[in-house]
Amino acid sequence: MSDGSSFYITTPIFYVNDVPHIGHAYTEVAADVLSRWHRQAGDDTWLLTGTDEHGQKILRTATANGLEPQEWADRLVASAWKPLLETVDIANDDFIRTTDVRHEEAVGKFLQKLHDDGHIYAGEYEGYYCVGCEEYKQRDELDEPLSGEYQGQLVCKIHSRPIEILKEKNYFFRMSDFGQRLLDLYESQPDFVQPESVRNEIIQFVRQGLSDLSISRSSFDWGIKVPWDPSHVVYVWFDALLNYATAVGYGDDPELFARRWPAYHLVGKDIARFHAVIWPAMLMAAGLDVPHKVFGHGWLLVGGEKMSKSKLTGIAPSQITDTFGSDAFRYYFMRAISFGQDGSFSWEDLSARYQAELANGFGNLASRVIAMLQRYFDGEIPVSGEPNEADLEVRTVVADAATNADAAIERFAIHEGVAAVWTIVDELNGYITEQEPWVLAKDEATRERLKTVLATTAEGLRALAVLLSPVIPKAAGTLWAALGAQDALGDITAQPLRDAGRWGQLPAGIRVSQLDALFPRIEAAVAS
Ligand code: ME8
Ligand code: MG
Repeated sequence: MSDGSSFYITTPIFYVNDVPHIGHAYTEVAADVLSRWHRQAGDDTWLLTGTDEHGQKILRTATANGLEPQEWADRLVASAWKPLLETVDIANDDFIRTTDVRHEEAVGKFLQKLHDDGHIYAGEYEGYYCVGCEEYKQRDELDEPLSGEYQGQLVCKIHSRPIEILKEKNYFFRMSDFGQRLLDLYESQPDFVQPESVRNEIIQFVRQGLSDLSISRSSFDWGIKVPWDPSHVVYVWFDALLNYATAVGYGDDPELFARRWPAYHLVGKDIARFHAVIWPAMLMAAGLDVPHKVFGHGWLLVGGEKMSKSKLTGIAPSQITDTFGSDAFRYYFMRAISFGQDGSFSWEDLSARYQAELANGFGNLASRVIAMLQRYFDGEIPVSGEPNEADLEVRTVVADAATNADAAIERFAIHEGVAAVWTIVDELNGYITEQEPWVLAKDEATRERLKTVLATTAEGLRALAVLLSPVIPKAAGTLWAALGAQDALGDITAQPLRDAGRWGQLPAGIRVSQLDALFPRIEAAVAS
């Protein structure tokens, strides 16, 4: 991707039936790391997130709580979903709600166009529906439990709750027209759906043949009215998917839309099918470009099962950030889980990585280097002499880390990107152990060598701070300021990421300042 090119990335818009758990925060953080990386690399970046507020699930939750759905959604957005972004330090550019006027109007225009162009017809839907999934179901997607509360009833395999049987007059989208074009798309653009496991599943699904999709409901009215027949509201997924287009000017600001579109969609694999089948078919029907990519990441598991709101296995993000901070949350989930695969969360693993990697590995390194600069050079970064082999090795590691991290992020392999950056931490720690600056400091004869060693570690920290800033923005910014780089080079976020590996940017003569522990020891027992 060349500098200045558009990088428009989205998260799912989340249902406001309940408060967020760490699964939602995980998607937000991943999207935020990718967007901070691209933004700092000079790409024309836009991060969109938001909330999905229509449909029966929200209507029923609101009613059960004695509120109108709009009132309920307003409350949940203000008290839970927007605060989530602060909790895990998300730098989103926009937040769309499906009840926004801008969205509702543009959805109407999109539907009318599909209707005018013959992609929509009136018909009768008869079949199963899971309100938890907000999805029409086939028989093989249901179970019939032999015991328990729902014995003998048909339940959704995902939610383990009874499904509904619908028989309604609906409007249908001729999705079956697009099966072959979708298969051609997956073939000609192999990275359209990623990772491979999700791609294979999608291809298999489409190969079985697509049915037309019911896109309206008439048995309740919490939704966007169908423009030519206001006795129907738009099916919640048809409405929701369109947020990605309506948020960047579809139907309203063609120039803006042309600048941003197409998007990169980051979603959990649970909803990859909606994004990789229904959504591109909708776009094809409207004559719009399909997305660049749909990436379906894995699930956070609890006791081997997907963490979920409906099964009450959710952990609130603030339970982690209150103790460990937002940087540690971000680092842990991006580092510990191979992006694209499932991962089990455990307090023990989080504590262990916090202590070993963030506190001892990185935090200590930064503190030691700053402290030695203060002790031996009165806080002034010394002039480096001619580098020896060990010094040159540090430079090579830094340059390679920057290149490898960028290549990994380009592929959405976030864990690999973080691991690549972390080679600098390991290299600098090893270098200091070998060079023993505290020994060099004892003898005036090795003063020049001491200068080179500390200048080298300071420059290594400069690169490290820049490369870590998309992942742990707070700690990276603190280190940046302590190095004196803020005054010498400007804001950390203004340092071009793809230039971070170039050696020799931190000028000699600038002054470092006191650095408190970036990741302080956590005393309280945190296991719960
Ligand atoms: O599906 N592990 O909203 P939703 C990882 N409104 N990620 C998880 C997760 C877990 N255990 N649980 C949830 C919807 N997520 C629709 C989306 S988009 C046009 C409409 C994350 O509130 C993950 O990103 O059920 C998943 O895809 C999403 O939350 C589902 O959120
Ligand atoms: Mg869900």
